[in-house]
Amino acid sequence: MPYKNVPVLITGGLGFIGSNLAIRLVEAGARVAIADPQIAGCGANLHNIAPVAGRIQLIPTDIGDADQFASTIREAKIIFNLAGEISHIHSMEFPERDLLINTVAQLRFLQACARYNPGVRIVYAGTRQVYGKPDYLPMDERHPVRPIDFNGVHKYAANMYHAMLSRSGHIDAIVLRLTNVYGPRMSLAIPCQGFLSTFLRLVLTGKGLQVFGDGKQLRDPVFVDDAVEAFLLAGTAPSPSERTINVGGPEALPLRQIAELCAKHGGDLPVAFRPFPDDRAVIDIGSYSTDSSLFETTFGWKPGVRFEDGLLSTLAWYRAELHHYLDPANPQPFCSLPEHQGVQHRLMYAAV
Ligand SMILES: NC(=O)c1ccc[n+]([C@@H]2O[C@H](COP(=O)([O-])OP(=O)(O)OC[C@H]3O[C@@H](n4cnc5c(N)ncnc54)[C@H](O)[C@@H]3O)[C@@H](O)[C@H]2O)c1
Repeated sequence: MPYKNVPVLITGGLGFIGSNLAIRLVEAGARVAIADPQIAGCGANLHNIAPVAGRIQLIPTDIGDADQFASTIREAKIIFNLAGEISHIHSMEFPERDLLINTVAQLRFLQACARYNPGVRIVYAGTRQVYGKPDYLPMDERHPVRPIDFNGVHKYAANMYHAMLSRSGHIDAIVLRLTNVYGPRMSLAIPCQGFLSTFLRLVLTGKGLQVFGDGKQLRDPVFVDDAVEAFLLAGTAPSPSERTINVGGPEALPLRQIAELCAKHGGDLPVAFRPFPDDRAVIDIGSYSTDSSLFETTFGWKPGVRFEDGLLSTLAWYRAELHHYLDPANPQPFCSLPEHQGVQHRLMYAAV
């Protein structure tokens, strides 16, 4: 991998995917800087980068204040842009907080990149959430964009900033629309970060699982090592003609099967099914699976880790590290977001 001595910047690098990427890049000989102020309510964890502590430059600054680390932006050959809030539920409760994190900060950051390092390669962590409810599966990039939550709208705006500033030649961005990613270093202590984090938390604390709906909804989780490989390939590839590209997992599984595999490897825990709570029902997209063929043919990538294998290695990893990810005194966290830059602003209309 051509990263030896290459200066790279990872935004959101204390979080789940960003830290796994940082570790791989340090191992590949890159000179890694991370910009991450550990936004409350997101998945930052200093322990995530423990294996490479001392070999990374940590900048505890919001990417919306990118002028403060202009020299790092100027020096970077490749920027991996993973800063963001992933929770759809948080975005529905506090839309303006999500706007600030996922859109306003990105707009400011990309303008700084264009100013200090014109034409720089940026690989952005987009999301399949922008598509909304599927018209067909597996979903390719031609599918209409119809997000059904604020997170999808705000991430789509950031996706478009990357595409627009690339068309004008200010930056050279590739946007990876990721499906659900799982693996070591996911935050387990933050509720509302999706079913995989919830299932892992329950399994690792010996509790039964609950599935909303009948469990027939498809998902195609991608193991974090495969996702990291996709970022690494996109970082150094020639500019592709299509800049927004889907990245999915190797197999589409019903949620029931995902839950049953988690329960089995957690020690034969029970799995219960219950109707969607109202706040989840409005943002449920039903089944989803990715058509990643564009990414596969463009970059020569294929997700290699099947879900059960990825699950087993994830559980083994957490069993050795659990105290860094869950407070034994408070294994059942609850959603309580602090103010973000003076903004809290709960949703101002009643849920329908
Ligand atoms: N995890 C998934 O399944 C998934 C799926 C699709 C897309 N994504 C995208 O991938 C990216 C990383 O996701 P993750 O699962 O690692 O999330 P995470 O919550 O574990 O990490 C996100 C990190 O970004 C940091 N951050 C947030 N706003 C910031 C800002 N303004 N400036 C600097 N740092 C900031 C947080 O402090 C946190 O450390 C996100 O942009 C997310 O939307 C993730």
